[in-house]
Amino acid sequence: MRITYPEDPVKKQFIKLAEEYARQRMQNLRSSHGWDHVSRVVRMALHIARVEGADTFVVLMASLLHDIARDEENASNGKTCHAEEGYRLTLELLTPTSMDPPVALHIAECIKTHRFRSNNAPESLEAKVLFDADKIDSIGAVGIGRAFLFSGEVGARLHNDEHTDILSTRAYTEEDTAYREFIVKLQYISDRLCTDEGKRIARARHQFMSEYFNRLHLEVTGEA
Ligand SMILES: [Fe+2]
Ligand SMILES: [Fe+2]
Repeated sequence: MRITYPEDPVKKQFIKLAEEYARQRMQNLRSSHGWDHVSRVVRMALHIARVEGADTFVVLMASLLHDIARDEENASNGKTCHAEEGYRLTLELLTPTSMDPPVALHIAECIKTHRFRSNNAPESLEAKVLFDADKIDSIGAVGIGRAFLFSGEVGARLHNDEHTDILSTRAYTEEDTAYREFIVKLQYISDRLCTDEGKRIARARHQFMSEYFNRLHLEVTGEA
C-alpha cells in the first residue's frame, strides 16, 4: 500500500511512525488478519471519512494502528482483547511524542471500540468510520476470500457435511469452515454498521456474499 501523506510535515511524521510501528508488530501474523487487511481498512476508512466529513488524520492513524495487538490476543488464546491492548499500546507510542494529548486519546479510543464483539460501542464519528471500514473487510468478495483463507489456516474443510448442525460446531476445528463463519457471524455484520456510507457499501457486499454462500451450499448438496 502506498499512503498519500498529508502536506503537513508534522502529521506526515506521525503517520510514518504509525505505519512503521504497525508493520513491525504485524509482520508475523497470518495473512487473513495481517498487513493486507490493514491496507484495505485504511483505504476504505479514508473513503468513508471523506464522504462522512470525519477527521482524516485521526481516521488514518487509527486505521494503521487498529490491529497492533493481534499477536498478544493470539498468544493469550483470546484472553487479551486486542482492541483494549491496542488502545494501551497506542497511548504508549503517542504519549512521548509532541502530539496533543486529546488527539492521541481520540485515536486510541477509536481503536478501543473497533471490535465487533466488544461491548464498547464506537462513539465519535472517527471511531464509527474505523468500525465500519474494519467490518466491511469481513464481507463481500473480500470477506469470502478472507473466510476461506482463515479456514485454510486452521485446517478446516471446504464445507460442512449437510447433516452437521453448524451452531453446535466449534471454532478452530475441522468444522470451522467459511460457511460456518458466514452462518454464525458474517451474515449479521451489515446490520451493525454505524455510518450511512458504511451501510451503503455493506448492503451490496452482504447481498453478493449471501448469494455466494447459498449457492455454495446448493452445489455441495448436489442441488445446483
Ligand atoms: Fe481488530
Ligand atoms: Fe482489523
